[in-house]
Amino acid sequence: MTSGIRTPRTPRRRLGALTATVAVVAATALAVLSATPAQAASPLRSLAEGKGKYFGTALTDGDLNISGEMAIANTQFDMVTPGNEMKWDTTEPSNGSYNFGPGDQIVNWAQAHNARVRGHNLVWHSQLPNWVSSLPLTQVQGVMESHITTEATHYKGKVYAWDVINEPFNEDGSLRQDVFYKAMGSGYLADAIRTAHTADPNAKLYINDYNIEGENAKSNALYTLAQQMLSQGVPLGGIGLEAHFIEGQLPSSMLANMQRFADLGLDVAITELDDRIQLPTSSATLQQQGNDYATVVNDCLAVTRCVGVSQWGVDDGHSWIPGTFPGYGAATMYDSNYQPKPAYNATVNALSAGGTTTGGTTTTGGTTSAGGTTGGTGGNCHVTYTKNEWAGGFTADVVVANTGTTSVNGWTLGFSFPGDQKVTNGWNATVTQSGNTVKATNVSYDSTIAPGGTVDFGFQGTWTSNDTSPGSFTLNGTACS
Ligand code: XIL
Repeated sequence: MTSGIRTPRTPRRRLGALTATVAVVAATALAVLSATPAQAASPLRSLAEGKGKYFGTALTDGDLNISGEMAIANTQFDMVTPGNEMKWDTTEPSNGSYNFGPGDQIVNWAQAHNARVRGHNLVWHSQLPNWVSSLPLTQVQGVMESHITTEATHYKGKVYAWDVINEPFNEDGSLRQDVFYKAMGSGYLADAIRTAHTADPNAKLYINDYNIEGENAKSNALYTLAQQMLSQGVPLGGIGLEAHFIEGQLPSSMLANMQRFADLGLDVAITELDDRIQLPTSSATLQQQGNDYATVVNDCLAVTRCVGVSQWGVDDGHSWIPGTFPGYGAATMYDSNYQPKPAYNATVNALSAGGTTTGGTTTTGGTTSAGGTTGGTGGNCHVTYTKNEWAGGFTADVVVANTGTTSVNGWTLGFSFPGDQKVTNGWNATVTQSGNTVKATNVSYDSTIAPGGTVDFGFQGTWTSNDTSPGSFTLNGTACS
């Protein structure tokens, strides 16, 4: 059985969701109606990059051979998630025998198209080979750790982020009683993330799940878990909101929900967006789907730590939806003839509104994490340092913008802590510290900063009495403004 099949909603919940959506529809209808023609738009990836975000898709190896899909993917997306190729049933079909060929093909596509990779996934109850679920429970921890270590080491330096844990929760907020839980209890979650971090210290490590987009029992349980993990120094870096929506039924609390996770110092990402429509479609349902896409994109834009949006697949003709949810389809921005739909126009409009930012001051529609600071006068760079602290610990998100007219190829950002901070681990950069002096050097996938472009890295650390943020930065030895 594939994951992601929802238990049917009760009529009462369905009504609640519909009522809650009315305000959203009214607020976004105007923007969608005034959509600019599709052919005039820049690629989604450029529009997203202009806002400091990415726009991604899922691709399978099969998709790589379909020219219509690739014509879109090659130009529109700067992040890719392998649809199936990095899951356990593909990568370790029998104990200790690994197959990274299929996943490598997706990585090769990414590298050829200047896109990053969301590794998906390391630990999941589904698409898990039988040999794992039938192991004696005493062997599960060792096997899980070996699997994570081997796969994360194979892809070290090539993935931006890992969905280390996929879909761990039941709808009521309890943990799934899968083989990992049965063997290790809830401790498997932290163990998996620590193991992945040891293998690839620079990858951003996520928990990814569905039906956690709004505030509900499931997302509340995840929020509590995330708080506990951070307080225990577990290197959790982000929360993936799958966002497999039904047209017209987005949760109204999505923005607030994303912001509360961001306020913990975590990244959030929309990881598997689609918005299925009961077939046949009508102009009204396609329009509503556009409203839904605009809402998702706008919510991500409003949360500084929302790093990007990925659609699950390229087009309606190759989406997983019709095969998994009979009677539903048309869930993506492109129809089966690869033509952009109202959802595409709505996405372009949302990404185009309000001009672009090139790593300037980070402000959001919701609450912001404390401590955004920028550096002194100087060279062709601008740094935004956003800190989220708690007693004894903090995370820092650092956005480096290239304000010059030539590419930066290979970078080291230097700064000093005014306080007694100690970096414990970084992501998207190799972060080293000597005394108060910190150097953050690019990793392979973010070595280039295009003119007007940005890179975003971060780190977690500890502090005792002074957590004052650094006020000046150098890029490759030259001071930033
Ligand atoms: C889906 C794939 O798209 C299908 O091809 C496969 O048959 C089942 O899995 N949540 C996830 C994804 O995290 O990995 C799932 O992908 C969709 C639901």
